[in-house]
Amino acid sequence: MDDNWRRLRRDCDGCERCSLCRTRGKLVFGDGNENAKIMLIGEGPGEQEDLQGLPFVGPAGQLLDEMLELIDLDRTKVYIANIVKCRPPRNRDPLPEEQEACSSFLARQIALVQPMIIVCLGRIAAQGIMKADLRITREHGKWFEHAGTMYMATYHPSALLRDESKRPEAFEDLVKLRQQIRELCPDVYGIKI
Ligand code: URA
Repeated sequence: MDDNWRRLRRDCDGCERCSLCRTRGKLVFGDGNENAKIMLIGEGPGEQEDLQGLPFVGPAGQLLDEMLELIDLDRTKVYIANIVKCRPPRNRDPLPEEQEACSSFLARQIALVQPMIIVCLGRIAAQGIMKADLRITREHGKWFEHAGTMYMATYHPSALLRDESKRPEAFEDLVKLRQQIRELCPDVYGIKI
């Protein structure tokens, strides 16, 4: 059966596949352009996201918006989702079983968006999506191709808030992202092919 956004939202609504459902405020489904060529994947909702039901709307989200702006992107040009849709208590890392319980929802979002480029924000997203032993300090900014989609990991905006010394490296990753977009999907920048 063909999947669609309405069916996926309905399946997520009221999800009780893991114990995060007991402590969440709002489930954070995802947001942005459902036809985007670029998809960003974070870790899981924080406090503000849990209150508002939207991804990256707290301090990390504000920094993410600034990072996107540096390469002329905004939320109308990307789709944003997380590894887990419900906030882990006190923002702890989502447990493997919580990530697993949520993984088919994210897989369905990726299948519906069909992005050309996926950017994993932080270690949890990169290890969940790209490879289990990925080392973010060593492998951020490197491109991996799988089944016609280009994948890159970069630092999570929360890590950049905690440690500003990582920002120049994150900026280099953004420049690589802009270059990849220009090559693969220049229409994102209004460039006709
Ligand atoms: N951090 C994440 O990983 N995702 C969000 O949506 C917000 C903060």
